[in-house]
Amino acid sequence: MLENFQKDYEVCNCKKVTIAEIEKAINTKAATSLRDIQDITGAGTECRHCIFVEGDFGKIKKKIYCKDILKEISEIKDKESVHG
Ligand code: FES
Repeated sequence: MLENFQKDYEVCNCKKVTIAEIEKAINTKAATSLRDIQDITGAGTECRHCIFVEGDFGKIKKKIYCKDILKEISEIKDKESVHG
């Protein structure tokens, strides 16, 4: 899913947080939960529609959520650690 988006795609419109910023929080600041992503980047701390699809009550649905990014990056990290 992530490969369909530019790194500067704005996931959280309220806080203007991009995919790249969330990736960085996971990769360099060891964010492992949605809560960590919220604390570190501020994403999902205002209207909260960008956290996951179940919580998106906005009129225009988001195309990607913080949860999707966390899941994909965590999977990539897991694979990397398995292969050394
Ligand atoms: S779009 Fe992320 S908190 Fe509103």
